[in-house]
Amino acid sequence: MDREANPISSLSRASKKSPYMLLLVLLFVVMVFGLYICFVSFKQISVSLKPKEISILGTAGPPCDTHEFQLEEIPYVHFPHPKSYSREECKCTPVRLFTILSMQRSGSGWFETLLNSHPNISSNGEIFSVKQRRSNFSTISRTLDVVYRLEWVSSAAKNDCVAAVGFKWMLNQAVMDYHRQIANYFNWKGVSVIFVLRRNLLRRLVSVLANAYDRDAKQINGIHKSHVHTREEADLLARYKPTLNVSALIPDLISAERMMRDSLEYFKTTRHMIFYYEDLIKNPKVKHNATFTLAHLLYHKHTYVFISNIFVHSYYQKLKSFLEYQSQNLRAARLRFTSNPFLNRSIIGRKFIGG
Ligand SMILES: *[C@@H]1O[C@H](CO)[C@@H](O)[C@H](O)[C@H]1NC(C)=O
Ligand SMILES: *[C@@H]1O[C@H](CO)[C@@H](O)[C@H](O)[C@H]1NC(C)=O
Ligand SMILES: *[C@@H]1O[C@H](CO)[C@@H](O)[C@H](O)[C@H]1NC(C)=O
Ligand SMILES: *[C@@H]1O[C@H](CO)[C@@H](O)[C@H](O)[C@H]1NC(C)=O
Ligand SMILES: *[C@@H]1O[C@H](CO)[C@@H](O)[C@H](O)[C@H]1NC(C)=O
Repeated sequence: MDREANPISSLSRASKKSPYMLLLVLLFVVMVFGLYICFVSFKQISVSLKPKEISILGTAGPPCDTHEFQLEEIPYVHFPHPKSYSREECKCTPVRLFTILSMQRSGSGWFETLLNSHPNISSNGEIFSVKQRRSNFSTISRTLDVVYRLEWVSSAAKNDCVAAVGFKWMLNQAVMDYHRQIANYFNWKGVSVIFVLRRNLLRRLVSVLANAYDRDAKQINGIHKSHVHTREEADLLARYKPTLNVSALIPDLISAERMMRDSLEYFKTTRHMIFYYEDLIKNPKVKHNATFTLAHLLYHKHTYVFISNIFVHSYYQKLKSFLEYQSQNLRAARLRFTSNPFLNRSIIGRKFIGG
């Protein structure tokens, strides 16, 4: 009896102890589970933190081959997967992302037209002229994501084989307010910055005033024209001579210059390029032919290196053979080609245009 009762009594003793045992076991299980969750989520974070296309630009599809690119080029090469359509046979066509940072009346509209004359470059205009899109950084980054995922709908949108996508952004459209976050975004996503600025700020101011006047006067057939396309139109608009407020003149020029200088400072960590309108205009080909297209600009050797670096890889290859074929000194050609001008932050547009 006793021997039979013993197991029962020992069992009941065990069940008295068991709340503690169970608690310990439960605690252990919770701890292990917690650690596991931490481990898994860290692993996921570290995956999604990998730069380039993997994060915002989509995850679908097998990875594209990046062997052909130079190492320093890889952060700037993307293979976006738009959600709303398929890039079809061009899904492994690399896409370069860019932003044209500029100020009103500095030649950015004209520069953008040059870019858009290329069949595979898509520059989507002044998308942040709409206030809601720039009301805070989360709306800004959401807008940028859509553009760089190749899902922005505009007249400049091209085919599935787009090789470079971007837009122009005026410095006074929240660029200066959110410069830190924007520069981080650019560095993070591998966006190249093209500054298009104007040296002569007095002329810029005259142009700003003339443009403001035309908004009401609509001098050409009752239509407001921000950008003229013929000599006649230009002459007509130039007849208006704005009156400058002398007491506001110097402060205006100073603040414009400060904005220019600050923006260069804020974005110096990004991969960037600086074009001055005056230098572009001095290029004899641009000067003598208003319908001058990007192809001409591209075929100017040094500019060509720059543009092809950010934009079209196939051009890069063509340039390589061009330089190697043309040059008497093969080594010099190779040297010039392999030194990436973008990595030299002190180089300004003139060097490429003038050289
Ligand atoms: C544009 O892209 C297509 C498809 O990748 C390519 O065949 C064509 O050569 C490109 N055009 C230029 C001018 O680079
Ligand atoms: C950002 O702006 C949008 C639109 O104006 C607004 O809906 C949203 O709440 C704002 N977000 C933050 C974090 O302020
Ligand atoms: C000229 O500029 C000054 C300083 O900004 C301003 O106080 C004044 O009202 C302006 N005059 C006119 C006619 O706009
Ligand atoms: C100007 O450039 C356009 C476009 O490249 C070309 O078709 C035209 O023949 C050029 N005009 C002159 C006068 O060179
Ligand atoms: C960068 O550009 C400056 C100015 O043109 C030049 O003096 C310097 O040698 C360049 N540096 C490199 C590494 O190419």
